[in-house]
Amino acid sequence: MLASVQGIMQGIGESDRGRIAESARLSGNRMARATPNTVRARLPQSFKDIGGPTHMMFEELAVRAETDEMDMIARDAGKLMNQCMTCHATFRVQ
Ligand code: HEC
Repeated sequence: MLASVQGIMQGIGESDRGRIAESARLSGNRMARATPNTVRARLPQSFKDIGGPTHMMFEELAVRAETDEMDMIARDAGKLMNQCMTCHATFRVQ
Protein backbone atom coordinates (compact mmCIF):
# COMPACT_ATOMS: atom_id res chain seq x y z
CA MET A 1 0.00 0.00 0.00
CA LEU A 2 2.93 2.31 0.58
CA ALA A 3 3.96 1.67 -3.03
CA SER A 4 0.42 2.59 -4.13
CA VAL A 5 0.52 5.87 -2.22
CA GLN A 6 3.93 6.64 -3.71
CA GLY A 7 2.62 5.99 -7.24
CA ILE A 8 -0.51 8.05 -6.60
CA MET A 9 1.51 11.02 -5.32
CA GLN A 10 3.93 10.88 -8.21
CA GLY A 11 1.02 10.54 -10.62
CA ILE A 12 -0.62 13.64 -9.14
CA GLY A 13 2.67 15.53 -9.41
CA GLU A 14 3.00 14.61 -13.07
CA SER A 15 -0.76 14.83 -13.83
CA ASP A 16 -0.49 11.25 -15.03
CA ARG A 17 -3.99 9.79 -14.62
CA GLY A 18 -2.98 6.36 -15.83
CA ARG A 19 -0.29 6.12 -13.21
CA ILE A 20 -2.65 7.19 -10.42
CA ALA A 21 -5.30 4.64 -11.46
CA GLU A 22 -2.81 1.84 -11.91
CA SER A 23 -1.13 2.52 -8.56
CA ALA A 24 -4.46 2.74 -6.73
CA ARG A 25 -5.74 -0.52 -8.22
CA LEU A 26 -2.75 -2.39 -6.81
CA SER A 27 -4.24 -1.89 -3.34
CA GLY A 28 -7.90 -2.17 -4.33
CA ASN A 29 -10.23 -5.15 -4.47
CA ARG A 30 -7.52 -7.30 -5.95
CA MET A 31 -5.41 -7.00 -2.80
CA ALA A 32 -8.44 -7.54 -0.57
CA ARG A 33 -9.34 -10.71 -2.46
CA ALA A 34 -5.75 -11.92 -2.31
CA THR A 35 -5.92 -12.19 1.49
CA PRO A 36 -5.74 -15.93 2.24
CA ASN A 37 -8.77 -17.36 4.03
CA THR A 38 -6.53 -18.67 6.80
CA VAL A 39 -5.41 -15.11 7.52
CA ARG A 40 -8.87 -13.66 7.03
CA ALA A 41 -10.31 -16.09 9.59
CA ARG A 42 -7.90 -14.85 12.24
CA LEU A 43 -8.29 -11.14 11.69
CA PRO A 44 -10.49 -9.38 14.25
CA GLN A 45 -13.64 -7.76 12.87
CA SER A 46 -12.39 -4.36 14.01
CA PHE A 47 -9.36 -4.78 11.71
CA LYS A 48 -11.52 -5.74 8.74
CA ASP A 49 -13.79 -2.77 9.47
CA ILE A 50 -10.86 -0.45 8.71
CA GLY A 51 -9.11 -2.59 6.09
CA GLY A 52 -12.13 -3.36 3.89
CA PRO A 53 -13.15 0.25 3.30
CA THR A 54 -9.49 1.16 2.73
CA HIS A 55 -9.30 -1.16 -0.28
CA MET A 56 -12.62 0.28 -1.53
CA MET A 57 -11.19 3.80 -1.25
CA PHE A 58 -8.28 2.77 -3.47
CA GLU A 59 -10.78 1.42 -6.03
CA GLU A 60 -12.76 4.63 -5.90
CA LEU A 61 -9.61 6.71 -6.32
CA ALA A 62 -8.71 4.67 -9.41
CA VAL A 63 -12.09 5.54 -10.95
CA ARG A 64 -11.91 9.20 -9.94
CA ALA A 65 -8.40 9.44 -11.40
CA GLU A 66 -10.00 9.35 -14.84
CA THR A 67 -12.03 12.52 -14.40
CA ASP A 68 -11.35 14.48 -11.20
CA GLU A 69 -9.09 17.51 -10.92
CA MET A 70 -5.66 16.76 -9.49
CA ASP A 71 -6.32 18.76 -6.31
CA MET A 72 -9.45 16.69 -5.65
CA ILE A 73 -7.49 13.49 -6.15
CA ALA A 74 -4.84 14.77 -3.74
CA ARG A 75 -7.56 15.52 -1.19
CA ASP A 76 -8.96 12.01 -1.53
CA ALA A 77 -5.49 10.51 -1.22
CA GLY A 78 -5.02 12.48 2.00
CA LYS A 79 -8.30 11.12 3.35
CA LEU A 80 -7.28 7.64 2.33
CA MET A 81 -4.06 8.00 4.29
CA ASN A 82 -6.08 8.68 7.44
CA GLN A 83 -7.01 5.00 7.17
CA CYS A 84 -3.30 4.09 7.35
CA MET A 85 -2.92 6.30 10.42
CA THR A 86 -6.01 4.95 12.15
CA CYS A 87 -5.13 1.32 11.67
CA HIS A 88 -1.44 1.70 12.53
CA ALA A 89 -2.39 3.53 15.72
CA THR A 90 -4.55 0.57 16.79
CA PHE A 91 -2.95 -2.64 15.52
CA ARG A 92 0.49 -4.19 15.89
CA VAL A 93 1.72 -7.60 14.79
CA GLN A 94 2.72 -9.43 17.97
C1 HEC B 1 -6.52 -2.36 8.55
C2 HEC B 1 -5.25 -2.01 9.10
C3 HEC B 1 -4.19 -1.30 8.29
C4 HEC B 1 -4.36 -0.34 7.33
C5 HEC B 1 -5.64 0.31 6.86
C6 HEC B 1 -3.05 0.00 6.87
N1 HEC B 1 -2.10 -0.73 7.51
FE1 HEC B 1 -0.12 -0.67 7.16
N2 HEC B 1 0.17 -2.07 8.58
C7 HEC B 1 -0.82 -2.64 9.36
C8 HEC B 1 -0.21 -3.54 10.34
C9 HEC B 1 -0.96 -4.37 11.37
C10 HEC B 1 1.16 -3.49 10.10
C11 HEC B 1 2.24 -4.24 10.85
C12 HEC B 1 2.67 -3.40 12.04
C13 HEC B 1 3.70 -4.12 12.84
O1 HEC B 1 4.72 -4.52 12.25
O2 HEC B 1 3.51 -4.27 14.05
C14 HEC B 1 1.37 -2.55 8.99
C15 HEC B 1 2.60 -2.24 8.47
C16 HEC B 1 2.82 -1.32 7.46
C17 HEC B 1 4.10 -1.01 6.90
C18 HEC B 1 5.41 -1.64 7.31
C19 HEC B 1 5.55 -2.86 6.43
C20 HEC B 1 6.74 -3.72 6.75
O3 HEC B 1 7.12 -4.47 5.85
O4 HEC B 1 7.24 -3.65 7.87
C21 HEC B 1 3.92 -0.07 5.94
C22 HEC B 1 4.96 0.57 5.07
C23 HEC B 1 2.50 0.22 5.90
N3 HEC B 1 1.86 -0.58 6.83
C24 HEC B 1 1.92 1.13 5.06
C25 HEC B 1 0.56 1.39 5.03
C26 HEC B 1 -0.05 2.40 4.19
C27 HEC B 1 0.68 3.34 3.27
C28 HEC B 1 -1.38 2.35 4.45
C29 HEC B 1 -2.48 3.19 3.88
C30 HEC B 1 -2.59 3.34 2.49
C31 HEC B 1 -1.58 1.30 5.42
N4 HEC B 1 -0.41 0.75 5.74
C32 HEC B 1 -2.82 0.96 5.91
C33 HEC B 1 -2.15 -2.41 9.27
C34 HEC B 1 -2.76 -1.52 8.39
